Amino acid sequence: MVQPEHGPRLRPSLGGIPSYKPGKPAGADAFKLSSNENPYPPLPGVLEAAVAAAGSFNRYPDMAVSGLVAELAERFGVPAEHVATGTGSVGVAQSLILSAAGPGDEVVFAWRSFEAYPIITQVAGATPVPVPLTADEAHDLDAMLAAITDRTRLVFVCNPNNPTGAALHRDELVRFLDAVPADVLVVLDEAYREFIRDADVPDGVELYRDRPNVCVLRTFSKAYGLAGLRVGFAIAHEPVADALRKTAVPFGVSQLAQDAAVASLRAEDALLERVDALVAERARVTAALRAQGWTVVDSEANFVWLRLGERTLDFAAACAEAGVVVRPFAGEGVRVSIGEVKGNDLFLGAAEAFRKEL
Ligand SMILES: Cc1ncc(COP(=O)(O)O)c(C=O)c1O
Repeated sequence: MVQPEHGPRLRPSLGGIPSYKPGKPAGADAFKLSSNENPYPPLPGVLEAAVAAAGSFNRYPDMAVSGLVAELAERFGVPAEHVATGTGSVGVAQSLILSAAGPGDEVVFAWRSFEAYPIITQVAGATPVPVPLTADEAHDLDAMLAAITDRTRLVFVCNPNNPTGAALHRDELVRFLDAVPADVLVVLDEAYREFIRDADVPDGVELYRDRPNVCVLRTFSKAYGLAGLRVGFAIAHEPVADALRKTAVPFGVSQLAQDAAVASLRAEDALLERVDALVAERARVTAALRAQGWTVVDSEANFVWLRLGERTLDFAAACAEAGVVVRPFAGEGVRVSIGEVKGNDLFLGAAEAFRKEL
């Protein structure tokens, strides 16, 4: 980072941190399949709750987030003291790192995975330890175990993994958790939990119950469709949840977000019908891609992954030309969110045309 000759002295370490790259915005008539958002607009009851809360945004929100925390505690059958909320689950993830790791400490995660992990690790002054995925795009749990040292304070397990969609099964994850030292915090990032249909993928909430070093991270941004309102939460044993309340930005979850999240939980049946529709689309898109000749791993999330290597940016450009914005990771591959049927069809058309030119 360039340090100006005059002016404030910023932390030189920020120079090595990449800026978070959001999915590209789509033009007026393009489909945005680049940010793993929910393509459906807010449900009526949810929108009304947010609009009602907007009438008092001259006030600070309920700092304890009591209504939502109580609702989540009941929903998951956990004590309210085990629930901590934040500004999106990325906000909670940042608080988790600030709670557990600082300069000289290490944070282990699979790579490629959620792109915020290395950023928020370095913002806390800690050292990221990325562990390459297996050849079939999954976490390499043995390699992750081997990467744990005396300096490791936190391990992220992204299940299913963003951007590949691959999910870990119960037996392998339990074996991993049993082998991780008890003083290392394991964060099971389940941002896409509601899209999982493979019965062998465990629910992290069951795994956390008798493991004080395990924490589950969830969000209202994906299945629940509240990405723009920024609310996520962790379920963790009290010392961890307490630390999250200390390190969170005060009043970070707006009253709009709190009330919309409560309304979303109450409208869950309607929301989960939409999730079912997206899962059906995921199956259709995956099957169509395979029929075109692409290799696609099973995704348990609301996106699919194509490993394109050097052709990644060309492929993304071809999609943009066809009216769909996808998320390229240069030199690696493209992640494509499952969206509206029309957007998915445009993407499949672009993929087929691209494949024929290979
Ligand atoms: C694995 C994973 N975790 C966390 C997040 C953060 O989502 P949010 O901050 O909107 O809850 C994302 C978003 O893309 C994600 O993919």
